[in-house]
Amino acid sequence: MISAIIVAAGKGLRAGTETPKQFVNINGNQILSLSVNTFKENNKIDEIIIVVAKNWHNAISQSYNKCKVVVGGKTRQESVKAGIESCHKDTSIVLIHDAARPFLSQSIINNCIKHIDSADAVAPILDTIDSLVEIGENQLTSINRTQIKSVQTPQCFKLSCIQESINSNFSSTDEIGLLLKKHPNSNIKFIKGCPKNFKITSKYDLMLAESLIMNK
Ligand code: CTP
Ligand code: MG
Repeated sequence: MISAIIVAAGKGLRAGTETPKQFVNINGNQILSLSVNTFKENNKIDEIIIVVAKNWHNAISQSYNKCKVVVGGKTRQESVKAGIESCHKDTSIVLIHDAARPFLSQSIINNCIKHIDSADAVAPILDTIDSLVEIGENQLTSINRTQIKSVQTPQCFKLSCIQESINSNFSSTDEIGLLLKKHPNSNIKFIKGCPKNFKITSKYDLMLAESLIMNK
């Protein structure tokens, strides 16, 4: 079985909205609903798990009654752990996705699933656009950006691989990072990400999401 876990337990502090960004409504559609619907429309996905903060559990369970809704934790990693622990007993593959990325595509989901049989993990990446500089304590270093990639979600894993990493003492902002810390030689297949699959982080990202939805 394949489970999609959508993490939506964050507070969205950098976006600065009163309602956490993933629950903001744009033209009658909650940001969260866009990724939920994309997973729903994919017949390879057997269950959808939404991870939310405790105070959102009732409201989200009612609005998304075809999904499993579970309570997350203080960090994204704790929220992912809660999602993984609530997977169906027959789940062998998980796709972990940020609720704050409403514009994921079917082709990214399908590509993840296509490659996971021959890898421990699959994730979409993008080239770095901006120039990069490392600000050390006593020294500034210009970084060659050609080898630096941005990693998006969904990130797809064989359940056994990610379970081991999530239960370790390592921490990371995403699960590919976590897997690499636990097992640096993991077999990770990177696929082509998409700029439209950006993560809403700041209020400007939210404005961009708004205009993409309104002009659809
Ligand atoms: N997330 C989560 N549980 C947390 C923290 C984050 O499920 N304890 C989720 C967010 O809801 C989001 C995704 O992880 O869908 C990516 O995190 P991020 O963009 O950092 O969202 P927030 O943590 O909510 O925002 P901020 O860091 O600005 O407060
Ligand atoms: Mg955060």
